[in-house]
Amino acid sequence: MLDRLNAVKESFLKEIQQLKNKEQLEAIRSRFLSRKGILVDLFNELKDVDKEIRPQVGKTLNDLKNLMQAEFGKAQKIFLSTGKTESKIDLTLPGRMSFFGRKHPLTATLDEIKGIFTGLGFRVEDGPEIETDYYNFEALNMPKNHPARDMQDTLYITEEIVLRTHTSPVQIRVMERTDPPIRIIAPGRVYRRDTPDASHSPFFHQVEGLVVDEGVSFGDLKGVITAFAHKMFGSDIKVRFRPSFFPFTEPSAEYDFLCIFCHGAGCRVCKNTGWIEISGAGMVDPNVFDAVGYDNERYTGYAFGMGIDRVAMLKYSINDIRLFFENDLRFLEQF
Ligand code: PHE
Repeated sequence: MLDRLNAVKESFLKEIQQLKNKEQLEAIRSRFLSRKGILVDLFNELKDVDKEIRPQVGKTLNDLKNLMQAEFGKAQKIFLSTGKTESKIDLTLPGRMSFFGRKHPLTATLDEIKGIFTGLGFRVEDGPEIETDYYNFEALNMPKNHPARDMQDTLYITEEIVLRTHTSPVQIRVMERTDPPIRIIAPGRVYRRDTPDASHSPFFHQVEGLVVDEGVSFGDLKGVITAFAHKMFGSDIKVRFRPSFFPFTEPSAEYDFLCIFCHGAGCRVCKNTGWIEISGAGMVDPNVFDAVGYDNERYTGYAFGMGIDRVAMLKYSINDIRLFFENDLRFLEQF
């Protein structure tokens, strides 16, 4: 008899643990606890048990009854009150933390750059990172064997296909499909065969600017770049243009911002010059207008480049460009 009680107990507990719905709950009740259930049968059989062990069996049976009623009561509570099929939810546990993502510093910087230029009336354009020799060089007044190609440390895929070395090819693509007036910026990734160090990376980011219309002058270019410097870094940041050369602009310049760390006094970041180089700019070369079929007697324009990584490094005082691309959370979590 004691063995049977044990077996009943085990099968009852097993069933109640695997319980999935109200119907099964009812089945358990009827099989074990109803008036015609196993428990009543067992009590009825008690009178046939040997007198000597009857008290012990009786006590075990009573314990079993209490256990079964208690367990059944618990199961009933869960299934009848919530109707849930899963009995293991503990509503008192603390919730799971949700972690907020954040913008990569380059994305944040680019968003800010875009915001400033769209505020000045520029539209944002896009172009492919895998370019043809024609768009990256030829149409930009850099025929094959032009010495200026040397400056660009190009990664060639084939003789005719390159990873773009600058965002200037987007100038050509936009002018081919649009008539003046044009007022665009074109941000994106560019590639050069550089060995990585604190200030070089084989890929980095540029924003191209292009404005074409009747009567556009170098003065407009200076005005826009200066307005950008003031909005981005503060109105005390002066801009300086130095004569330079690019095949696709004439005249060409490189432009610098007054060092935002020492304001011209000279420090480690600006290598004691008081100025920080930003990029190149100039008036669109008439040969470039020829390449896209614009009337170069009627239209003039200016173009400029800008290193996004460079601007972000200044904005956040970051001294190694490689940090942007290593995806080290200890770095990224600071922004
Ligand atoms: N594309 C040039 C560079 O990457 C920068 C530039 C852009 C210069 C537009 C002039 C005009 O070096």
